[in-house]
Amino acid sequence: MNQDEMKKAAAEAAIEYVENGMIVGIGTGSTANHFIDLLADIKGKIDGTVASSEASAERLRGHGIPVMELNDVGTLSLYVDGADESNKYLHLIKGGGGALTREKIVAGASEKFVCIADDSKLVDVLGAFPLPIEVIPMARSLVARKMVAMGGSPVLREGFVTDNGNIILDVHNLQIMEPVHMETEINQIPGVVTVGIFAERPADILILGSEAGVKTLT
Ligand code: 5RP
Repeated sequence: MNQDEMKKAAAEAAIEYVENGMIVGIGTGSTANHFIDLLADIKGKIDGTVASSEASAERLRGHGIPVMELNDVGTLSLYVDGADESNKYLHLIKGGGGALTREKIVAGASEKFVCIADDSKLVDVLGAFPLPIEVIPMARSLVARKMVAMGGSPVLREGFVTDNGNIILDVHNLQIMEPVHMETEINQIPGVVTVGIFAERPADILILGSEAGVKTLT
């Protein structure tokens, strides 16, 4: 099984969490795309979705799946999204696709966050994947200097603008030993919109596709 098939296997397992009448929060990325495509087969079962990016909204609409505004629907029962890394506590790094701010908003508005990935994403210590930070453009240098002071090596994601009109700094060389603490610390820096550490609100369930089948961590 290749990596993409493992992602698809995780997405198939996540479909089991979809119940009648739900409005489902939808993540962004190749694994979330598998979930969207599978959701199309049972779209009559749900009332609609809330998307974490323009790209996911477009894919959902392409399948004829209703996309709603979060402000119109309140708390969601379920959010399904991928991740760039997870530790065993289900603290995540997200934002490889640049959708981290809306992803964190939808995750924060959801009762259950089911994270889907292939098993290469499970790590002992977060940080080998460069940490994405969405930043207001005028704060680029300030935030970069602060990240250097924290031991990181920030790199501007060239030619990329988020759905919110901001930039992304990808911070290399961090070993994130205390994810909740670092999430809070980076969030304090003026100009930071969102840091891609999802630890204050971790995933509730992690479904990993692997050579040996699908594994579920809670
Ligand atoms: C997008 C994300 C994605 O969930 C993350 O990048 C994983 O992507 P993929 O499913 O393509 O491996 O956080 O902002």
